[in-house]
Amino acid sequence: MIYFDNAATTKISENVLEEMMPYLKENYGNASSIYSLGQKSRAAIENSRIKIAEILKIKPSEIYFTSSGSESDNWAIKDILNKKEKNHIISSRIEHPAVLNSLKYVESKGIDVTLLSVDEFGNVNLDELKNSINDKTGLISIMFANNEIGTVEPVYEISKIARENNILFHTDAVQAIGNVKFNLKDLDVDMMSISGHKLGAPKGIGILYIKDGTEINSFIHGGSQERDRRASTENVASIVGIARAISDASENIDENIEYTKDLRDYFLEKLLNVDGIILNGPIENRLPGNINISLKGVKPQTMVRYLDMFDICVSQGSACAAGSIEPSYVLSAIGRSEELALSMIRISLNHNNTKEECDFVFDKILRGMKKFKK
Ligand SMILES: Cc1ncc(COP(=O)(O)O)c(C=O)c1O
Repeated sequence: MIYFDNAATTKISENVLEEMMPYLKENYGNASSIYSLGQKSRAAIENSRIKIAEILKIKPSEIYFTSSGSESDNWAIKDILNKKEKNHIISSRIEHPAVLNSLKYVESKGIDVTLLSVDEFGNVNLDELKNSINDKTGLISIMFANNEIGTVEPVYEISKIARENNILFHTDAVQAIGNVKFNLKDLDVDMMSISGHKLGAPKGIGILYIKDGTEINSFIHGGSQERDRRASTENVASIVGIARAISDASENIDENIEYTKDLRDYFLEKLLNVDGIILNGPIENRLPGNINISLKGVKPQTMVRYLDMFDICVSQGSACAAGSIEPSYVLSAIGRSEELALSMIRISLNHNNTKEECDFVFDKILRGMKKFKK
């Protein structure tokens, strides 16, 4: 099996699995129980929080464990409904559906939403951002890195603009964590969404970072978990897992980024020499493992199924939109024609992939192009 779809999800790492196992087997206590079995779970959660906080250079109390990146995005966006004076959000046209559909929801409840356009590489325009701010703007939500074309947005500059205008800034860092080096002391944001399954932790665990002092209501109502802000019996094993995944990623971040970038550039050079293969998205400021290409005259579903016959996994677009045959809204936003937008595949590499795998997949893509090109 050649797994080239790491932006959709990743394999759970052996380290993560090993560290989680005791909390799935013998240490199954509820973290709210006061006997020892429960307190082992409590300690595991709080140690995980401390571990992640140290890496991100924040306080443990600023970390809220959620069920996913999607939940974190929903929480950060929908809280605008609790703010009477502030009824305007600025975001971008290429956000993940977890943000875009949360925005649609708040819009249906009377919130004004401005979606910034992006240039041909997927970067938001900072002047447009500044010009969109008004007295009612309560939140700016711009993703750290795009899941389809890998654009890394100018989040440091956006954070400065948000600060100067006294506006909350949320960023969806689901694709960035582990792939871009950052900490939250330097990147001053109010809220950040993270998901575990993109970096070797299981699916179904996320984080919303909420800077101390940020006014935000609880999202899931119920018990008093997560300091009364996010009810539900804690998912101890997955919390331990995401902490280990973030810790491993941060320990090896320089090597991993360099390795993955080299691999991507090696593969990309081969691909772009082929007639009819076109790169979508930026050359610079791109996620290290992201390759988004249009295969002129080839239906992506056909190519994805063909590669699957050789046990190769790539994406026919972003995984979440994979069921639809609409052209990708991200490619439309960067100005790609419908023809190119409808012939795009996404390959997302990580540090577990190799040059030999790239060579093998390249050969199969070439064969596929010859076979299916119209
Ligand atoms: C940028 C981005 N945000 C949010 C999500 C949703 O995360 P989760 O799958 O944990 O709900 C994804 C997942 O693909 C993503 O790529």
